[in-house]
Amino acid sequence: MKIAYKSDIHLDFWVKEKNRNKIKDFIKNILFPKTADVLIIAGDLGHDNLQNALFLEEIKKYYGVVLVTFGNHDLYLLDEESLNKYKTSHARLSELKEYIRFIEGVYFLDGDIADVAGMKILGAGGWYDFSYAVRHGISLEVIRGQWEVIMRDAKYIHPKIDPPTFSSFEKEKIRSFIYDADIVFTHVPPLYIKCFDDVLMNSFYTFYGYDLFANNVKYWIFGHCHQAHDFYYDTVRFLSSPLGYPVGRRGEFGIRDLNINLKG
Ligand SMILES: [Fe+2]
Repeated sequence: MKIAYKSDIHLDFWVKEKNRNKIKDFIKNILFPKTADVLIIAGDLGHDNLQNALFLEEIKKYYGVVLVTFGNHDLYLLDEESLNKYKTSHARLSELKEYIRFIEGVYFLDGDIADVAGMKILGAGGWYDFSYAVRHGISLEVIRGQWEVIMRDAKYIHPKIDPPTFSSFEKEKIRSFIYDADIVFTHVPPLYIKCFDDVLMNSFYTFYGYDLFANNVKYWIFGHCHQAHDFYYDTVRFLSSPLGYPVGRRGEFGIRDLNINLKG
């Protein structure tokens, strides 16, 4: 089975209009899709639900099944207009899920398992928990204070979240199904990869998920950090292929894929 994966599309940074043809061009010229049985999108589609839905309709044409979860940007209410329309980030996410429900072959996973030709794929957002900085001796109070200043998550997610609480909530969703999963994908990586040299910054990009790996999981696909990864930790292969923003690029064009034979 061939699995393709991508994350951090940030569509509205690349395509300014809600125009199907422009989105088709973006897919062709930036993502170079090749057919595969499954495409996994590990969060951060973009800031506009309708545009994201058009994108998913178009990219689905290349894949048997498309599985997607949310990233932090998929919760943002950026302006007065979206604040008035949605009131809460949860409402915005519910609308996206509702759009996706009507797109054949595209599934939004929020702590759920999809069975694709006998392969069990678990998808969830996941969330950073500050623990990376705590382990470096920085107090929660200081971390939280910096989070308020540095991260736009503090400003654009409504009502304001408490990252450690949200993270443990997300982690429990993952934990309840992980025993069945062959492949997991989350927006936030469940281990301390180095996304930034700065300890505080890095604690906004990872969570402690080491206690989740002693299961059947063979592959873990993630996003959030705008650098591509492919490495093993223990017996799990960790993969990411973020697109990122057009300016100040750290991500990569194209969509990575790999052949998986779990019985082999
Ligand atoms: Fe993100």
